[in-house]
Amino acid sequence: MDVFEAMWTTRSMRRLDPDRDVSDEDVRTILEAALRGPTGGNQQPIRWLVIRDAETKRALQKVYLRCWEKGRKPYEEKPGTVAPNVLSSADHLADNLHLAPVIVIACACAGAGAGTSRRRQDASVYPSVQNLLLAARALGLGTTLTTAHLLEEDTVKEILDIPERVTTYALIPVGYPTGRWGEAKRRPLDEVSYHDRWGRLGPSVR
Ligand SMILES: Cc1cc2nc3c(=O)[nH]c(=O)nc-3n(C[C@H](O)[C@H](O)[C@H](O)COP(=O)(O)O)c2cc1C
Repeated sequence: MDVFEAMWTTRSMRRLDPDRDVSDEDVRTILEAALRGPTGGNQQPIRWLVIRDAETKRALQKVYLRCWEKGRKPYEEKPGTVAPNVLSSADHLADNLHLAPVIVIACACAGAGAGTSRRRQDASVYPSVQNLLLAARALGLGTTLTTAHLLEEDTVKEILDIPERVTTYALIPVGYPTGRWGEAKRRPLDEVSYHDRWGRLGPSVR
């Protein structure tokens, strides 16, 4: 699959087949792709935690569900901010997270590669996460970048023995999707890009 097709059709796949396992080789491939992402000063602060153990996944699901119940409230209060199908698929994920064959958590050691800026450290994590999502797509594996667990990050860290100095950035269920691949909805480029000055709308690319 070419990189453009992967980018165009990588979307949150929250309904995963619990009965179709993901091979260790494929997990390795997506992590190898992930760690090719750029990091500030090439300091590579990211550590990947791969979870397959059923009990551990169950413990994570319980926390994730609690977090999602809190996290979805703002969307409930302002109907129309999120498409109803996104909410229902996010609900499905929260109810079934433990059934995902694999859960990957992107972590980073605080300080490493961050220089003085926390934002710089954060920016050293997500390019690799996106690489992982794209590589998974190329292998036919569905993923979702989730962060709901951050509402109870300390509990998640406790379950996984993650030291205090380490931060978690994304919790990514991985598995074969039960639904169809398709293009994600995005605003048109000319609505979100300016030329020469902030706010100057119009085609930014001739
Ligand atoms: C920073 C970030 C946090 C997200 N957190 C969650 C989450 O906690 N749970 C979830 O189901 N989806 C989560 N998502 C997925 C988004 O809801 C999803 O990307 C968005 O609705 C666009 O849909 P698409 O990925 O299918 O294009 C998150 C995405 C990002 C980038």
